Amino acid sequence: MNQPASPVLPAKKWTLQYPELGTGPLPHEPNISSAYFEKEREKLFKRTWLLLCREDELPRPGSYVVKQMPILETSVLLVRGDDGVVRAFHNSCRHRGNKVVMGAGEKTGDSRGFMCGFHGWTYDLQGRLTHIVDEEDFFDLDKCALGLKPIHCDTWRGFVFINAMDTPRETLAEALGDWGREVEAFPFENFELVNVYSANVRCNWKIGLDAFQEGYHALTLHAKSACEPFVSKHNPFAHLLYVKLYPEGQRRASFPANLDFVPAPSVQHAVKYAGNNVYAYQDGHTRNLPGLNPSGASDWSFDINIIFPHVQFLASDAFYVTQHFWPISVDETYWELRQYLPKCTTVSGRIAQQNSQAALRDVIREDLVTLENTQSVLRSGAISHMQLNDNEIAVRHSYFKVAERVNAPD
Ligand code: FES
Ligand SMILES: [Fe+2]
Repeated sequence: MNQPASPVLPAKKWTLQYPELGTGPLPHEPNISSAYFEKEREKLFKRTWLLLCREDELPRPGSYVVKQMPILETSVLLVRGDDGVVRAFHNSCRHRGNKVVMGAGEKTGDSRGFMCGFHGWTYDLQGRLTHIVDEEDFFDLDKCALGLKPIHCDTWRGFVFINAMDTPRETLAEALGDWGREVEAFPFENFELVNVYSANVRCNWKIGLDAFQEGYHALTLHAKSACEPFVSKHNPFAHLLYVKLYPEGQRRASFPANLDFVPAPSVQHAVKYAGNNVYAYQDGHTRNLPGLNPSGASDWSFDINIIFPHVQFLASDAFYVTQHFWPISVDETYWELRQYLPKCTTVSGRIAQQNSQAALRDVIREDLVTLENTQSVLRSGAISHMQLNDNEIAVRHSYFKVAERVNAPD
């Protein structure tokens, strides 16, 4: 049986707990200013641990992933070495700089090493330079010093992060801080990747992220697709059940559930046979996997986490999602969504997975529509500020933490 819902949440419960954020309107300037974007590049993205992918995307020695990263003005080669260690390199040859793995877009594969297609310099899986065509015709080359240029790389719970600084100011564990310690028990290994969506979107990366770190819009934008499961008579405006903002930049919020919601029969079947639907809380109890639902509320549906600065990590008992908002320019963003569901081996489980994929797709399509509709009118300057309510506190925190980096002394 469903447990009773938590009492109606008062308005303006969260923001006043973080007085440094203020309560006033926020300027749109950071979303349209090229100068601000360049500061974000130099002072934020080039100096921060950035989440790239899951480690299991590089399953064996020789597995590699290449990511084009305009915000770092480079291309990154991730490769698992013979020793099993995942390393990151600038995908740029030490001879004259050509991409060692050429081409645009993301590339994945398995290799025994990398030969630059320009003049044939060859590197092994640890990035060491192993062969130079006509080596004797060069002058005083120190081959040992000419391996691929490494990028700092570390992992947390199977996620691969990089830091482009020569000497990072902090370790990955320090950068993740208490957020990392509080969420690390989540059983990522029990989930499998079922779906990837990506698109180049003509909006600032923050406009993209903003749309996925508040639930205020569920009442309107998702009125038909995803309002009823979350909005209840106890909590008619989908006020957040829990909010925690971390000094390192992470943030975490819990989204409510409507325990009176009765899903469609197809969804009820999906829940019954696989429990992997977004509405799995409807099976009569709140299971709360480790690392989730920090307030322990019974009418909880999922947690929204932001892994600073640009990744949303949405997690529930029944699914998790990562969304990357990779900046390309001040008004262009590469968006990538990855959906993970509990591993299953049965036919009914697979059908249930399809059900979950369709549900998420419909909601995400609605979210994406707002991004270019917002960005395209901002440049006029007619609307210079945004008004944020208490339920949008994560948006406020996001701009605050970005500005902190952008305005910090060098
Ligand atoms: S640039 Fe790579 S071998 Fe010449
Ligand atoms: Fe949404």
